[in-house]
Amino acid sequence: MGMRKKVFCVSISFSDKTDSTMTGNDVSRALTTRRTFLKRGGMSLALLSVPQMGRHRQVVMAKPVLDPNSLTPFVDPLPIPPVARPNDFRPSPDGGKQKAPYYRLAMRQVQSKVHRDMKPTMQWAVDSTVPGPTLETQSGQGMFVEWANELPTAHFLPIDHSLHGAEAEKPDVRSVIHMHGARVPATADGYPEDWYVPGKSAMYFYPNMQDAAMLWYHDHTLGLNRLNVYAGLLGLFIVRDSFESGLNLPGGKYEVPLVLYDRFFDQNSQLYYPVSPVAGKPWIPELFGNAILANGKLLPYLEVEPRKYRFRVLNGANGRFFHLSMSSGQTFQQIGTDQGLLSAPVTVKICSLAPGERADLIVDFGDHSGEQIILKNDMLLPVMQFRVAKGKVNDESSVPSTLRPVHKIAESEAVKTRSLMLGEITDLHGDSVTMLLNNAHWSMPVTENPTLDSVEIWELINVTDDAHPIHLHMVKFQILDRRRFDAFAYQNEKNLLRYRGNPMPPEPSEAGWKDTVRADPGMITRIIVKFEGYVGRYVWHCHILEHEDNEMMRPYDVIAKS
Ligand code: C2O
Ligand code: CU
Ligand code: CU
Repeated sequence: MGMRKKVFCVSISFSDKTDSTMTGNDVSRALTTRRTFLKRGGMSLALLSVPQMGRHRQVVMAKPVLDPNSLTPFVDPLPIPPVARPNDFRPSPDGGKQKAPYYRLAMRQVQSKVHRDMKPTMQWAVDSTVPGPTLETQSGQGMFVEWANELPTAHFLPIDHSLHGAEAEKPDVRSVIHMHGARVPATADGYPEDWYVPGKSAMYFYPNMQDAAMLWYHDHTLGLNRLNVYAGLLGLFIVRDSFESGLNLPGGKYEVPLVLYDRFFDQNSQLYYPVSPVAGKPWIPELFGNAILANGKLLPYLEVEPRKYRFRVLNGANGRFFHLSMSSGQTFQQIGTDQGLLSAPVTVKICSLAPGERADLIVDFGDHSGEQIILKNDMLLPVMQFRVAKGKVNDESSVPSTLRPVHKIAESEAVKTRSLMLGEITDLHGDSVTMLLNNAHWSMPVTENPTLDSVEIWELINVTDDAHPIHLHMVKFQILDRRRFDAFAYQNEKNLLRYRGNPMPPEPSEAGWKDTVRADPGMITRIIVKFEGYVGRYVWHCHILEHEDNEMMRPYDVIAKS
């Protein structure tokens, strides 16, 4: 984290207008100020590489944090989140003859150890573990989940009451759980305003009419989501189907879920969430913790056999992008992305995951018997260790050369193209104050209203210096392309679109079904979406949770065919 020595000053003219009364013109003026400054300063917006974040911003570390380098690495085995067991079976609301499993999952405050040499850490767990239990189902087999809020009534992380949705008169502890990537009726989607307090619960039915994929659940409370997820309210949901099971991929104990996220801990082993220097407004624009956890443990190890494994990886971080690689120099075979299998395996040396994205990876330890291999992130930072057993084993699993065909949606099928700007309001120093989608705040009227079963192209026009992982609820989509453009001209000359390069196709590892897409800075990222599923109100948003909590989220309506 860059800790610049710089006086933080929020300009009154911008910061005091970042409420819903701010007009589109105010926003673009605010946006323009920094661009003009950058231009005059001779900085080019046409960046060659794509950094995650354009600048470092100031945050306050109110207390000293634990340095993970001071701990002995690889002393704890990698925990595998338990698979949830149904409490009972109930008649299915979709009229099927089969009964549907019913799960009751309660959110509770727990104490658990993230490292052998640390004291227990207070966290908010679903059931009793962080990540929570993994739900599993077969495609088409619906399930009930009763998400019960049994949390205490006091929050232990810094709520910013100036954020929309987190006003002081609202109870501090509230939750609502969303199933990321699930095609569900809007009433069970975990709408950010459908939160409820300790002592209450929500009963959702998930029809699970979708292909095999690894989805995940997490808190989605308006204005609190970043804190509730940081506290631990997240877990996995694996949908399986007969097509995938017919592929003979590594399974059972050779299929390992891997939930990655970063945190800060204080010297007392407790979660620490940094704050801004502005009194009464603790929100920070992004968080990069110095401790990276795998399945809730800090620097764990996994004993593996010299054979193929399937890793189902989730980036569950608030804001950190992962770029994973193996110290052995070996490659991964990526077989799937957010919404399931790719059409064919892709060999990747570095697996990149933005917050919310998933990767389905095959790792072959067959040639590495007896070795100790480190899974590392950027700057060689270790995430975990694999201890490969000596000798030889008989590996009967296989990775077919073709997986599930991915039918490409033709651009000609689209009935509408929406141009959607990803913007940011900054103060005079270029520090961010609010992030916006198409200049609109959460509470403004719905502007995206696709018709059920129609196909649309969404152009995500990123005029900020940051990469934003954009996620749409309920649907899966394909990435068409990314194209560099002149963000300055776009903002200063009435949405003039001046391209600065040719369209670039998605990376092979992204060329499948997605629900979250990286919108790179200075680029227009185009996705094509079929709004299949249900009519109703959903949301789309940036999956950097700090952005999402500060207006980078919008409702959208799927409307009935007339
Ligand atoms: Cu991961 Cu709106 O969700
Ligand atoms: Cu989602
Ligand atoms: Cu963002």
